[in-house]
Amino acid sequence: MYKILEKEALNPTVTKMVIEAPLVAHKAQPGQFIIFRASEDGERVPLTIADYDREKGTVTIIFQIVGAATMELNALNEGDSLVDFVGPLGTPSHLDGLKKVAVVGGGVGCAIAYPTAKKLHELGAEVHSIVGFRNKDLVILEKEFEAVSNRVVKMSDDGTWGEKGLVTNALEALIKEGNQYDEVIAIGPLVMMKFVCKLTKEYNIKTTVSMNPIMIDGTGMCGGCRLTVGGETKFACVDGPDFDGHLVDFDEAMHRGSMYRDFEAHAREAECN
Ligand code: FES
Repeated sequence: MYKILEKEALNPTVTKMVIEAPLVAHKAQPGQFIIFRASEDGERVPLTIADYDREKGTVTIIFQIVGAATMELNALNEGDSLVDFVGPLGTPSHLDGLKKVAVVGGGVGCAIAYPTAKKLHELGAEVHSIVGFRNKDLVILEKEFEAVSNRVVKMSDDGTWGEKGLVTNALEALIKEGNQYDEVIAIGPLVMMKFVCKLTKEYNIKTTVSMNPIMIDGTGMCGGCRLTVGGETKFACVDGPDFDGHLVDFDEAMHRGSMYRDFEAHAREAECN
């Protein structure tokens, strides 16, 4: 059993939990994820590791309350336990040797972008973080990004936080300013990552994205998380979740992601009743 040591609402729909999981904490690396089950008959859901503390044996997860499983998780409180907390899974991000990086986070994707920015900062890279939210009420991890970035550009769709506009506008402005990035790392909604990649392709800047498709076993057995990358089938759970964004078929990923919307809506209704 994996005890919830801390629970904090970061905004009305996003929650942070610190979980007691010493074996996962011992091996965790940025870019990896866990799969949890809140109860015996709960759904298995992947979540990226937002932070870890090897000495305390804890792993931090940040999740958006979007479906039945995350509603069930969010109903638990400090002192309660999860039935399963399997990991670390996936391939760690390759961050060594990067000197100057733009980290682009969108919405709850910032929970995944933050540990990446933090690790790059620890490795001595110059980090420019571009973080975007729909509005100021949805902002998470503002101080955390400021602490690990040489520069933070804040964007919101409605102009209630930072500048009004899209993260792609901010990234293009930084590139045009003359910033030469070794790499852009983009993590957020599929449509955001697609357009970041379209932009960086024009400027010929290597771009890594973190893909978060539906996962079932998380070990490469079920095929549920398959993606097309460079014309080949890849499994996000074992080959990723990081991929070369210029090779990912985003349109296919968006289509596959929408296939389960009705099913998820029914599950959410059942969880509410
Ligand atoms: Fe089953 Fe990736 S989740 S193959």
